[in-house]
Amino acid sequence: MKKNFINKYCFEIKKKFKKNILELHEPFFKKNEIDQLKKAISTKIVSTHGNITEKFEKKLSNFTKTKYVIATNSGTSAIHVALISLGLNNSDEVLVPNLNYIASANAILYLGGIPNFIDTNERSPSIDLEKLKDYLSKNTKKINGDCINIRTKRKIHSIIITHIFGHIEDIDKLKNLTKNFNLKLIEDASEALGSFYKKKHAGSFGDVGIISFNGNKIITTGGGGALITNSLKLAKKIKNLTTICRKKNTIEYDYSGLGYNYRMPSINAAIGIAQLKNLNFFLKTKKNIFNKYKEISKKFTEFDLIVEPKNCKSNYWLQGIILKKNSLKYRNQIIKFMNKNGIKSRPVWKLMHKIQYLKKFKHGDLSNSIRLEKKIINLPSGIGLIYDK
Ligand SMILES: Cc1ncc(COP(=O)(O)O)c(C=O)c1O
Repeated sequence: MKKNFINKYCFEIKKKFKKNILELHEPFFKKNEIDQLKKAISTKIVSTHGNITEKFEKKLSNFTKTKYVIATNSGTSAIHVALISLGLNNSDEVLVPNLNYIASANAILYLGGIPNFIDTNERSPSIDLEKLKDYLSKNTKKINGDCINIRTKRKIHSIIITHIFGHIEDIDKLKNLTKNFNLKLIEDASEALGSFYKKKHAGSFGDVGIISFNGNKIITTGGGGALITNSLKLAKKIKNLTTICRKKNTIEYDYSGLGYNYRMPSINAAIGIAQLKNLNFFLKTKKNIFNKYKEISKKFTEFDLIVEPKNCKSNYWLQGIILKKNSLKYRNQIIKFMNKNGIKSRPVWKLMHKIQYLKKFKHGDLSNSIRLEKKIINLPSGIGLIYDK
């Protein structure tokens, strides 16, 4: 490895941010969280009952400009419920990016569905729309309105798209494609709170969108998630499913179906209400961090900085570079060197088709994601890079 480049890059990063240790992520609290927590504790509204979670949902609905928001205890449970509410049946196939976090593939498997991995494009971590279109045109047939995989004879139920690192690419084109092939569209906007495409919020294009409030996200509730949708019918279904399908208007403990204890507790929502107040500050700071990396990048030719796609106003949740050189060994050496020097970087996720329990699922050409996996490095992106805690 050419030590010169990475030595110089680390030096420039440290000089720009004036820090010895640069964290990849870290939650940032402005202390208004404590007031909200005190309020929740003093009123004893800490569990799933009471109006704090509803208040958080209302605020999220206003921010994302989606009609209905249902808060959950994680982003993963939100994806699980999204698939149930949209009617995923055992043995249905779901299209899902090969370069992705594990939550979507797991949620598909919880329901006996079959993940069908799709490739990214060559230049960015987003999916390759042309390749997907070509795949669907050549391999599917419409039977009674359903999109059927000719080879497996199974129904392709939906696609889950992920707005990786907060970036949204060509979501309008994807929406048209899903309409043409009669597929449900779930947007995994777990990383994209505060990202917009043509002024519409991430997650508001599909049938349903998912947001995560895990500790590493742009705002956190400790753990938590949300489903956002403009469909009243779907929202009612989701609310019922996430509250164990308990029948209302009866003193009896009775249930309309198999439900899940997935509702976000008030204690988490209380933190969320305070964090939402700080969101615009976080968004500005993330952009500021990106701009600093952009300035540094001008001095280097060994990589490209990942930037927001056309028509997207990204939340720049997680910064990243794409190395020009295509070598896993080289990537790992760089990450090791950076971490040793206090610059907390990481590789992108291991590809889905290489995960042990997912290897058995058939897939088409995944060459772009195979190449990208070896080239992406995520860089320190915590708010603490600029502001002290
Ligand atoms: C893209 C993506 N999807 C889903 C999730 C799952 O969210 P959670 O950790 O809240 O279950 C995460 C983050 O953790 C994520 O980054």
